[in-house]
Amino acid sequence: MLRVDEVIRERLSSRVALIDQISHYIVNAGGKRIRPRLVLLCSEALGFDGPERFELAAVVEFIHTATLLHDDVVDESALRRGRATANAAFGNAASVLVGDFLYSRAFQMMVGVNRLRVLEVLADATNVIAEGEVLQLMNMHDADLAVRDYLQVIRYKTAKLFEASARLGAVLAGADETIEALCADYGRSLGTAFQLVDDLLDYEGSSNELGKNVGDDLREGKPTLPLLLAMERAPPADRSLIRQAIEQGELQRLPEVLDIVRRTGALEATREAARGEAEQARAAASRLPASPARDALIDLCLRSVHRSS
Ligand code: IPE
Ligand code: IPE
Ligand code: MG
Ligand code: MG
Repeated sequence: MLRVDEVIRERLSSRVALIDQISHYIVNAGGKRIRPRLVLLCSEALGFDGPERFELAAVVEFIHTATLLHDDVVDESALRRGRATANAAFGNAASVLVGDFLYSRAFQMMVGVNRLRVLEVLADATNVIAEGEVLQLMNMHDADLAVRDYLQVIRYKTAKLFEASARLGAVLAGADETIEALCADYGRSLGTAFQLVDDLLDYEGSSNELGKNVGDDLREGKPTLPLLLAMERAPPADRSLIRQAIEQGELQRLPEVLDIVRRTGALEATREAARGEAEQARAAASRLPASPARDALIDLCLRSVHRSS
C-alpha cells in the first residue's frame, strides 16, 4: 500500500496549478483505500506480484476519488475525509472538472498497462457507476421505491467498482474464468455490504469518526434501506412522517426519524442485510486457494459490517 501511495502521488501531477491543488487536497486527506487493497490482495492470493498491480490499485483509487468529487457536488455535501469537501472549498465547477481530470488520468494509466481486458473491465465499471448515480437521482424523493430498485442503485454506484477491483487481481494473475468469477462475486457482495453500512451510518454514525456529515441522506430525501424498512414496519402516523421526510428532505426532523428507524428495528435489519452480503463475500473468498492474502480478504468481510468509519 505504501507503493500504491507513491504511484498515486507520482501520477497526480498536472501542469495546471488548480488541478494539482485540488487533487492533492482530496488525496492527502486520506481515505481507507479499500479498493486498491482489493486489487493487491486478489492478485497476491492468486500468485501475481508484477508492478502492474500497483498501477491498477492507483487507477481504482483515482476512479473512486473522481466519483467522490462528483458525488459531493450532486449531494451538496460539505464534509469529506474530515475536511471541507472540494466543492465547499473550491466550488462546484472546479470539483466536477478535476473529477474529469482524475477519470481521464486513470484511463491514461490503464492504457499504460496495455491489456485490453483491463480496459474492458474498467470501462464497464465506470459506465455502470455513472448509471447508478443517475438512477439514484431519478429515485430521489420517491417514498414508494421498491427495495430491489434501491439494491440496484447500490450495486451499480458502489459494488461495481469493488467488483472490478477484485476482478482485476484475477485478470492480472491470468486466472481462469471460474476464479475470476469468484473474485468478482466477492467484490460485488463486499461492496454491497459496504454501501448498506454506509447508508446505516448516515443515521447512526458519528461525523467525527466518519469524516463526513451524518444526516446527508435525509436532507436530500434519499430513500435508503433504513427508511424503506422503517416505512414497512412503522405504524401509520410514523410512516407518514417518514414519507414526508423523504418527499421533502427534512433534516430538522432527523431526531424523530432516527427514533422511528431505531424503534422499528430498521437499523438492525439494515445491518443484518449487510451481514448477509458479507457472508456471501466470505463464501466466495473461501473458495480461493488458501493464503494469508485470502485470509485478509475474508477478514475484510467482517470488518465491513462492523465498521464505524
Ligand atoms: C465512500 O467510500 C463512498 C461510498 C461508496 C460509500 P469510502 O468509504 O471507501 O471512502 P474513503 O475513500 O474511505 O474516503
Ligand atoms: C457514494 O454514495 C457512491 C459513489 C461515490 C459513486 P454516497 O453518496 O452514499 O456516498 P457518501 O455517503 O457521500 O460517501
Ligand atoms: Mg454522497
Ligand atoms: Mg452515503
